[in-house]
Amino acid sequence: MRIILLGAPGAGKGTQAQFLMQKFGIPQISTGDMLRSAIKAGTPLGLKAKEVMDKGQLVSDDIIIGLVKDRVAQADCAKGFLLDGFPRTIPQAEALDSNNISIDAVVEIAVPDDEIVKRMSGRRVHLASGRTYHVVFNPPKVEGKDDVTGEDLVIRKDDEEATVRSRLNVYHSQTEPLVAFYSAKAAKNECKFIKVDGTKKVSEVSAELDKLLA
Ligand code: AP5
Ligand code: ZN
Repeated sequence: MRIILLGAPGAGKGTQAQFLMQKFGIPQISTGDMLRSAIKAGTPLGLKAKEVMDKGQLVSDDIIIGLVKDRVAQADCAKGFLLDGFPRTIPQAEALDSNNISIDAVVEIAVPDDEIVKRMSGRRVHLASGRTYHVVFNPPKVEGKDDVTGEDLVIRKDDEEATVRSRLNVYHSQTEPLVAFYSAKAAKNECKFIKVDGTKKVSEVSAELDKLLA
């Protein structure tokens, strides 16, 4: 199963990725997590990406396409994968087609902008794994600690309100056109296109996905 998760920053892509990885036994490929690891490791890619990400802008298509192409070629992707945060522009989506990387299902998680801004202030992440929590809506078992490793949770640098607003603008102008791109493919039976209401509870969104992605 090859799945794309589409949705605004904070729509719940990373959160639902945890559920879908388990359901299908496929790896999550989060370009955001890959870039954050590169920043943490201080690689040349990380140094380049940091400034762009802190402003809420997009890293260049060439860099991202290269990263994803290498990642999907790895052995653990043989049975499928879950793309979280990619593609994010029409050229990125076209790169999947031109590399003959077909997709079974595209899932759009829809959440209005105002709700997103509220959510981001409470997000806490475990950087090493990408596991994501919310202080109110999805709290960890022990405050400030990751459920699996017990390590500290942190606040992402790009979760400040002004940066979230600019990420939302970037989403609407550059990423939202992918809804029409993949709806058109679905109309030709090239993939499924599924839209879920991301304002429901985490468990309700998962249950909806469970039903729709049988
Ligand atoms: P990335 O890491 O992909 O960020 P994003 O798309 O902005 O999405 P987020 O991770 O912020 O949100 P999410 O949808 O995963 O929500 P989450 O589950 O965490 O990208 C970061 C940056 O990297 C980009 O700005 C860009 O610079 C660069 N980048 C990455 N990919 C790129 C690409 N392809 N091309 C170019 N540049 C790229 O949930 C959010 C919060 O809400 C959490 O606290 C969670 O617990 C809570 N929550 C989740 N679901 C619910 C619910 N149903 N109810 C209540 N709360 C909920
Ligand atoms: Zn995410």
